[in-house]
Amino acid sequence: MQTALRTSLPETELASRANFTPHARVVHEERQEERQVQATGLPLSIRGLRKSFGDNEVLRGIDLHIPAGQFVAIVGKSGCGKSTLLRLIAGLDKIDSGSISFGDEVQAEDVRVMFQEPRLLPWARVLSNVEVGLGRDRSSSDAHARAEKALTEVGLADKRDQWPSVLSGGQKQRVALGRALVSRPRVLAFDEPLGALDALTRISMQRLLERVWRDQGFTAILVTHDVAEAVALADRVLVIDEGRIAHDVVVNTARPRERGSVELAGLEGSILSHLLSADDRT
Ligand SMILES: Nc1ncnc2c1ncn2[C@@H]1O[C@H](COP(=O)(O)OP(=O)(O)O)[C@@H](O)[C@H]1O
Ligand SMILES: [Mg+2]
Repeated sequence: MQTALRTSLPETELASRANFTPHARVVHEERQEERQVQATGLPLSIRGLRKSFGDNEVLRGIDLHIPAGQFVAIVGKSGCGKSTLLRLIAGLDKIDSGSISFGDEVQAEDVRVMFQEPRLLPWARVLSNVEVGLGRDRSSSDAHARAEKALTEVGLADKRDQWPSVLSGGQKQRVALGRALVSRPRVLAFDEPLGALDALTRISMQRLLERVWRDQGFTAILVTHDVAEAVALADRVLVIDEGRIAHDVVVNTARPRERGSVELAGLEGSILSHLLSADDRT
């Protein structure tokens, strides 16, 4: 059953480490335990990263260093390569040239992605859907307890025995977040995870993302088309244009942040003007 569940995940968010040798290394049980305790964010260094699809040169030399535990947002017009970049970081696709390194050896559970569609298994109850995120640890004796803890973190402990079909869109996304958190990732990438939610649910999910990031200390990379969301959540906003990082904007407003404050609105305006000027060139 376990194998069936795993292989039938459409595009498992558990990143394949195939592209990360020589850093990839199979980890022993002892280190698993150690991870439970430390579980801190990993730094990320990207050098000269390029990726094309046929003659479409999407990423044309991305250079980026993200310190451990930073919350980075990535914005850019549609089709500029945001999802491509996340997929490369998560090891879901192969790089053409350049490098991505994490400052430590990584294992599959260290780097996770959460997508806009929750991608829940309809035939599995909520708790089992969260357990799927444990990957090969799913058969360990504490799998239930870890999944329950992750469900509690996303405020859905009382839904553990429900089927996904009875949940609201926001609740499904919270289950997907629980599934991403259950393995205690050290880098968590989000590909427009809140894009399909209504405004209020979106704001409560933004708060939840910020809270779990603060509690767990992972390095967060959020792709979003919502610049207000980017400045509300991130330490730093990157604007991608023409295959490169065109702007790198620091947001050092203290947290908790006041949405709609003059300071955040000013930053939002300047990032929007970068995006609009990129758009004018096309
Ligand atoms: N698997 C693929 N095969 C061919 N082209 C792709 C593939 N994935 C993405 N692309 C192309 O790469 C470009 C960037 O796509 P994407 O990274 O999804 O953009 P974004 O997420 O910024 O909207 C687009 O032109 C898209 O059509
Ligand atoms: Mg995309």
